[in-house]
Amino acid sequence: MEELKIWKNYRKLFPSRYLENSAFDDYLKSQNFYGKRLLSVGGGNKKPEYLNEVDLLDPYVSDTDFNEHITWNTLKTYDVVIARGSINYLLTIEYTRLQRFLIDGGELIFNTFLKRPVNKTIVGVTLGGEITQEKIEVVADIIKHKLVVNEHTIEHNIYYRTLDFFYRLDRLKELKVTNYGKNSAIIHIII
Ligand SMILES: C[S@@+](CC[C@H](N)C(=O)[O-])C[C@H]1O[C@@H](n2cnc3c(N)ncnc32)[C@H](O)[C@@H]1O
Repeated sequence: MEELKIWKNYRKLFPSRYLENSAFDDYLKSQNFYGKRLLSVGGGNKKPEYLNEVDLLDPYVSDTDFNEHITWNTLKTYDVVIARGSINYLLTIEYTRLQRFLIDGGELIFNTFLKRPVNKTIVGVTLGGEITQEKIEVVADIIKHKLVVNEHTIEHNIYYRTLDFFYRLDRLKELKVTNYGKNSAIIHIII
């Protein structure tokens, strides 16, 4: 329940930089998803307008414009799984489940950190024009993320995963990395 509340608040106070169009969106737009079954993991409550029919797996949202909402226990399978700004929230066990959603030859496309982030504070703004202060504190593979907007403080942990972690996924056949921005990477995996 606590997590539910955190994510609800987080979406309300999201720094606008997370929602801006990025090289990751351009990459997705360049893919041919015609006729493919798509799933967005951690997709939030807003389906990107450049994607057509997409199911959603996000335990912390209810009201969205995605198609079917599925859970981690689904038996449904997909041709493509996308995770925009969400892969680093997943637990190790969820990566195993994630791969089960994909057919042989299926694709897993997500964005992540290129290198381990460093401690820093970022000042930004929400969509509603409020000033945000984000503090990032890195302790081994855990990134403690604190977001302060006016009297609200939201804190949660993000898991840093090395490139090796992704190379070790059980069903991996191919992995392509495309760097972008200061410290981001698009990872495109074929299962
Ligand atoms: C930073 S938001 C990104 C939202 C959206 N994809 C976007 O790009 O604007 C991270 C999302 O991951 C979801 N999330 C967090 N933990 C998750 C988990 N274990 N399984 C699935 N989704 C999760 C949250 O509810 C949230 O919507």
